[in-house]
Amino acid sequence: MLYVETPTKVLNPVMHEIMGETAFTFLAKVNELRSKGRDVVSFGIGQPDFPTPLHIREAAKKALDEGFTGYTETAGIPELREAISEYLSRYGKVSPNEVVVTTGAKTAIFIGLLAYLRPGDELLIPDPSYYAYSQIAKVAGAKPVFVPMKFEEGNGFSLDIDEIEARITNKTRGIVINNPHNPTGAVFDKDQVEAIMEIARKRNLIVFVDEIYDNFLYGETGFKSFLSFDDWRDHVVYVNGFSKTFSMTGWRLGYLVAREEVIPRLLDLAVSVYSCACSFAQKAGVEALRGDWTPVKEMINEFERRAKRLYEILQEAPGIEAYMPKGAFYMFPRVKGLLEKSGLDVHKLVEKLLYDYDVLVLPGTSFPEKVGKDFVRISFATSMSDIEKGASRIVKAAKDLYMG
Ligand SMILES: Cc1ncc(COP(=O)(O)O)c(C=O)c1O
Repeated sequence: MLYVETPTKVLNPVMHEIMGETAFTFLAKVNELRSKGRDVVSFGIGQPDFPTPLHIREAAKKALDEGFTGYTETAGIPELREAISEYLSRYGKVSPNEVVVTTGAKTAIFIGLLAYLRPGDELLIPDPSYYAYSQIAKVAGAKPVFVPMKFEEGNGFSLDIDEIEARITNKTRGIVINNPHNPTGAVFDKDQVEAIMEIARKRNLIVFVDEIYDNFLYGETGFKSFLSFDDWRDHVVYVNGFSKTFSMTGWRLGYLVAREEVIPRLLDLAVSVYSCACSFAQKAGVEALRGDWTPVKEMINEFERRAKRLYEILQEAPGIEAYMPKGAFYMFPRVKGLLEKSGLDVHKLVEKLLYDYDVLVLPGTSFPEKVGKDFVRISFATSMSDIEKGASRIVKAAKDLYMG
């Protein structure tokens, strides 16, 4: 019998080891406060505030009106796989047969990690990192091994190549590289990307690459895609998606790229999990990639303006060390000084900001290990007026707490 009151006994033990996404938990808290009339500014969830561009919505409506509402091929409609292959040609050669369309990048991460990780394998994950990789690694029976990233005052985070090499054992199966990087806003440049690929070649590792923020680059970043290596097929399992670039978070559309020989096996897993991605969302995806990119470019320019404004305002906050992000849409300032002065830990600080100052930021510990304990993540994918209002609230809180 499945007694509901004893979940610890009835569930797979791994279910007690995984965590959910803090951003979604806080989203619920913000909605609750707003329903009580509180004017909360949310810098929580990583979701562009722009609407999905009109021509993309029109393509979905057209597909609906034409009755394109059934199951599709699990790998995705041929037109979309071709459009993805064309898009990725800006980086390297990817055939449509090397693409699997998924229900968001998250599902691509799930399928990719589950397909390659074996029980007992170790997966290297830079710390801090987007939380999902380690959770899915655990589900696969593998062990996440966190490797602290390097922090340089004023300049932010980068990969610590020596630390990564030092943690490789005979159980290491691969390494996760998310670039541009959530939550730090870092962009790992050509040298770092080449160094990781060289380690993968030397030690025969898989690089699980997540480039979902590949269009969110501010200034000269030296970004290099892992698909630009001629031998990517020997080492790279690649994830990207539509949520961020085209402001399509709710459409649930992403993709996985891997060498052609493994695709049939990946599809057997994919069909068992989700059958196929939403049919009319796939038609919209074709329009997103092949249609007019002006709205995307405008959105990214606007995000860069917001980052600068946010940075400027935070200069006034004692105990908060902000630095300009190079990519994605997150600022990840160090708040160590403020924590030390106030005696709060980062969770308490975040709660204080939310409940006493009506502004939500995420605790760095959501990402999901140790390095983040002195940091908070601020998503600037929200309007300029909210940025000004919310950042001023952070400044006020910092002054109050710093002065005691
Ligand atoms: C690094 C990273 N990968 C993947 C995802 C998930 O994207 P999707 O909405 O396509 O599932 C996110 C979303 O926040 C992300 O930040």
